Amino acid sequence: MKIKVVENYEEMSKEAAKILADAVKNAVNPVLGLATGSTPVGVYRELIGMYRDGEVSFKNVTTANLDEYVGLGAENPQSYVSFMKSNLFDYIDIDPSNTYIPDGKANDVQSECERYTKLLGNIPRTVQLLGLGSNGHIGFNEPGTPFARHTHIAELTQNTVSDNSRFFGSIDEVPRRAITMGIADIINAETVLLLASGKNKARAAYDMIKGEVSEECPASILQRHKNAVIILDKEAAWLL
Ligand code: F6R
Repeated sequence: MKIKVVENYEEMSKEAAKILADAVKNAVNPVLGLATGSTPVGVYRELIGMYRDGEVSFKNVTTANLDEYVGLGAENPQSYVSFMKSNLFDYIDIDPSNTYIPDGKANDVQSECERYTKLLGNIPRTVQLLGLGSNGHIGFNEPGTPFARHTHIAELTQNTVSDNSRFFGSIDEVPRRAITMGIADIINAETVLLLASGKNKARAAYDMIKGEVSEECPASILQRHKNAVIILDKEAAWLL
């Protein structure tokens, strides 16, 4: 793993945006695996700025998101489809038909997982962007999830429901299930770029980097990836 510790969230966002923009410029068919949540908001802001300054175009870029809540669709502002539109897609020149997110409103969510796994096999990701759960999850692969799993339905832990309740009116509104890329899908990316910011990520960051590779800390699998880049701000790195 390449580990870089930077001063703060802004620096982390700038460094990560540069890696993603370089991948877009250099790959023949760039495919970006994207994440939602608080962590990548700054990265997306930087990418929008680069696009507006004419430094990068997303015309030939394909994206595949990590996850979506079961039961939420585009009409719901808390869905990850809405998140991606309002934080990135609506402000760049990407073709919406090249942006993939699991369908949280599919009638048959099991078949949707199988469809998404197949899709990911056809669009190998150039870079997979990840945030880090305070419990060590990546995507919604919660502690204990087998590393060999592909896209599946995850039951969110109480810890994750509580972490994510800040985006909802109340904790009762947070969906308890999500469709998530599995670890087996995530590590198929050429480069995996994980970002973590803030003291509440410090324990998970420590376990990911210094702990043993274990399904109890899903992010620890990145120790075995040939090209994993970890960018932490000082607060997230303070236990290292
Ligand atoms: C988001 C995702 C999650 C988040 C993680 C950190 O698509 O899959 O793994 O990256 O929960 O969330 P934030 O960035 O909100 O702290």
